[in-house]
Amino acid sequence: PARDALIARLPKAELHLHIEGSLEPEMLFALAERNGVAIPFASAQEVRAAYAFSNLQDFLDIYYQGMGVLQTEQDFYDLTWAYLERAAADNVRHVEIFFDPQGHTERGVAFETVLDGIERALKDGEAQLGISYRLIMCFLRHLSEDEALSTLSEAAPHVGRIHGVGLDSSEVGHPPRKFERVFAKARELGLHVTAHAGEEGPPAYVHEALDLLKVERIDHGNRALEDPALIARLADEGMTLTVCPLSNLRLCVIDAIGASPVKRMLDLGLKVTVNADDPAYFGGYVNDNFRAVADALDLTHAEIVTLAENSFAGSFLAPADKARHI
Ligand code: ADE
Ligand code: ZN
Repeated sequence: PARDALIARLPKAELHLHIEGSLEPEMLFALAERNGVAIPFASAQEVRAAYAFSNLQDFLDIYYQGMGVLQTEQDFYDLTWAYLERAAADNVRHVEIFFDPQGHTERGVAFETVLDGIERALKDGEAQLGISYRLIMCFLRHLSEDEALSTLSEAAPHVGRIHGVGLDSSEVGHPPRKFERVFAKARELGLHVTAHAGEEGPPAYVHEALDLLKVERIDHGNRALEDPALIARLADEGMTLTVCPLSNLRLCVIDAIGASPVKRMLDLGLKVTVNADDPAYFGGYVNDNFRAVADALDLTHAEIVTLAENSFAGSFLAPADKARHI
């Protein structure tokens, strides 16, 4: 249909993509073999069958386990390069990818090994695929702020190679206020700031992300729609929300794609974007996410174009570079 053709040809930026969440079962197996890591599955098919989640924590347990096969600089390169080739096929022109250094350093993989491999692929992607990039380091919110501060110290010599910080992992019980000091330090270093908020957590967490962490974007933000004052504030401030429809479905944040907040957010004048989150685990890359909401919510061509434009407008690109894409 015409809608699918539009989605396929529209230039897009992807703003909410965990690179470790792009580890496809086939690569999981290949790297397990290459590195001599035992995994409790016999085939890629068996792995996919295990990806049935009831909530965020169910998924995170499997996601951190999957990361265990990533050990060398080349592993991080291969992971990132595979994602970039897939993104290019969806006409993604700019990526702002998350990585979770604490998921690797706690296993004995050096911070620089992770950064070097991801960055080398991003540079190759820029040169060979024409995809520009920013790299965002996330703090795992189930760990302490002191651990986040140590991770920020490890990153500090690499400011310039790392462009921003984010906050991810288990949301409920780990409010943004727990990370106020480390986000202040990150901002002092000149880093951009974003945070997952309102995926499973209450609207109060979105308020905290804005007030205390002073974020430039809200990752997910679904539950902001429960709070009319918060909606008005997000609209006023032109705050970008990075919504992930297939992730929301697979993590039972919504019970059907038709319940995705994308259309309601558009109608409210919010700067909503569509993203894949962890495509290897949730069954689709960015165009799959666009098609899913466009069909289920019967989005118009103009609305689909707005979603793509919002992705560049909400990026950390300089204004002149945003303008080139919109
Ligand atoms: N880590 C990877 N994907 C995530 C998500 N959707 N929410 C929180 N932490 C994550
Ligand atoms: Zn996420």
